[in-house]
Order: sequence, then C-alpha cells, then structure tokens
Amino acid sequence: MHTELIYDASLLEHNTFGIEAKARMLLTYDSESALCAALDDIHRQYKDIPMLHIGCGSNLLFLGDYPGVVLKSAIKGIQLLDESPDSVLVEVGAGEVCDDFIAHAIAVGWYGMENLSLIPGQVGAAAVQNIGAYGVEVCDVIHEVRGISLQDGSARRWKRDECGYGYRQSIFKTDLFGKYAITHVTFLLSKHFDPKLQYGGLVKAVGEAGLSEETLTAEELRQVIIGIRRAKLPDPKDQGNAGSFFKNPIVTKEKAEQLLTEFPTMPYYPADNERVKLAAGWLIEQAGWKGKSLGPAAVHDRQALVLVNKGGASGSDIQKLCEAVRKDVGERFGIELSPEVNMI
Ligand code: EPU
Repeated sequence: MHTELIYDASLLEHNTFGIEAKARMLLTYDSESALCAALDDIHRQYKDIPMLHIGCGSNLLFLGDYPGVVLKSAIKGIQLLDESPDSVLVEVGAGEVCDDFIAHAIAVGWYGMENLSLIPGQVGAAAVQNIGAYGVEVCDVIHEVRGISLQDGSARRWKRDECGYGYRQSIFKTDLFGKYAITHVTFLLSKHFDPKLQYGGLVKAVGEAGLSEETLTAEELRQVIIGIRRAKLPDPKDQGNAGSFFKNPIVTKEKAEQLLTEFPTMPYYPADNERVKLAAGWLIEQAGWKGKSLGPAAVHDRQALVLVNKGGASGSDIQKLCEAVRKDVGERFGIELSPEVNMI
C-alpha cells in the first residue's frame, strides 16, 4: 500500500495540453485502502477542501491553479474474473493505461476494444468519459465500474446500465461528478474477433494498408486505427492538446435538412430516430478556423476539432480560442458547440 502526497505540486506533467498550473496538493495512491487512509487524513486536517480526480490529464484544461487536492490513481492489475467459451470478464485497475490494456487484450485473444486503440488516458478515465472512436464506445464493453466515495471512503459498484452512458457522457460526469474515485473497471470482452468497420473510411483504410477484410486480424485492425490517428491527431509530446476539444453537435433532423440545403456536402450521421450528429471539425473548418492561431493557441491544421498549445499557452489562451471558434460557428451555422474537454 502506497500513497504519495505532494504540496504545491506542478501539474505540467499531468495535463497533455502542457499548461503550467499548480495544485495545492497532489495525491497518488495505488490501492483502495491507501486511498481511504489518505482521504481520512485529508478530511481530518482540511474541512471541505475541493477534490479533483484526474487520469492522464488528456481531457483536461486547467484555467488556473487548483486550490484543493488533485487525485491520481496508480491502481494497477488485470484480473480474469470469469470465462465462458465465448467471452471473458476482466477486471482492470483504474490506473492502467487504457491503450496498454487494449494491446494486452488483443495479444491474449480478448476482443472488442480494437477501435479504441491509441486513445490516450487511463482505464478509470475512459469509463468516466465514455471514450469512443471509429464506431465503438467503451461502454459497449463495460460490465461494471467500482469506486470509492471521496467523502466517506465507502465502496460502490455500478452495473453498466446504472452508469448513464451516452455520447462522451456518464453519471460520473453529471450527478456523481467529483463524488467518487473510480478504482476498477470490469470489461466483458469476446473471444471471437468481429471487426467493426462500419465507420466511414475504415474499410478504405484497411484496403489501403494492403489488408483484406476477410482475413483481417485484431492486431492488424489495431495498427490501421493507430495509423489513422497518428496521421490526423497531433502527439501531445510535440504539441500540447487534448484530442477533440469539442463534441460533435447533435441537432434535430429539421435543422440538419435546413443546413444541407445550403451546404449539400456537409457530413452527417444518424444519432437516433429524431436527431442527427454533425461533424464539428467540418463546421470549424468551414468557419475558416482550421490551422488558424489566436496568440499561442491554434486550431490544428489536420483536424479542426483539436485545439493545440503552440508553446507557453495558458489555460485562458486556449479558452479564448475556444470562445472565438464557438462564436463564429454559432454565427455561421446557428449551432452551439459544446467543449468535450473538462475546463477546471
Ligand atoms: N472533418 C473536416 N475537417 C476537419 C475534421 C473533420 O471536414 O478538420 C470532417 C471529416 O472529413 C469527416 C467528418 O468531419 O467527414 C468527421 O471527421 P473524423 O472522422 O476525423 O472524426 P471526428 O468527428 O472529427 C470523432 C471523435 C474522435 C474520434 C473520431 C473517429 C468526437 C468529438 N471526436 O472525430 O475522438 O477519434 O471521431 O471516431 O466525437 C476525441 O474524442 O478526443 C477524439 C479524437
């Protein structure tokens, strides 16, 4: 059992935007009991101190210093809980790097997460954010989530249906925001590889890689996905960013039809029976922002959904760019973009 508590801690290494911010305290823990003991101490010393749980900080924008405790999980471990001829139930520590688990799962023949390859972040954060890419969302393979209350250290479990999952949405971001630390996630994965290639461009990318849909392996699909992501998305090591900054907006069919008469080439996807999902990257590019800068913040030149730190940007520099982009997309298309990134 181990915890580390740093006072006046730099958060630079804990956010992929590369923003200089500080936390009053940074607590890292590697077990549930370590977390409970540390929470006990903190509550005894500091009454009502704010707490923020982070993962790898790949979906965060610090707008200033954090006046409370930033928590980070180092709970590791991959445990096979149950197995049938067709599937496995696997419990993973929230502090495992999600992509490392995906690589491991493919190597041992557990399938269903290939399309999520290379999404940055830890397993716990993936379950909070309901990460998604190329037609798969992590909630498709989540069976159960376990957590510890940050208030009283009590343990709780949520079945998948109790997690309130939606597009980049969960109960952990809404009703339970800031209330629990996710400690473990249980995945239900298949022993049979069933490639999901419905997402626009995937079949083409498989062909371009010289692969055949019929003989495609999970590892090959993983490499195709990694190739697409590397080509479009900037590496935070080169340029600070947090992946897609905005959510793709979901609008009524009427609104989409009205826009399509004016912009017939606009990409769109059915969201449910009444609503349509639009591509925020396309809207931002049409509004003229792709590759443009505002001070030290810029809209990425290969994927307009991504805002980047050109070097030395503060959280409010990025926020200013976010607001300028939102204003222009609003005026041009009558659509209000919502950030996907959590601004703290
Ligand atoms: N597009 C443009 N210009 C751009 C970017 C996109 O015209 O600058 C167009 C594309 O040509 C395409 C459409 O918009 O027709 C959709 O683009 P893409 O397939 O690249 O996906 P996205 O909607 O931009 C979403 C996710 C990504 C995820 C990809 C693939 C959100 C907010 N973003 O992006 O997730 O990797 O689909 O599934 O849903 C993330 O969440 O951080 C993230 C990177």
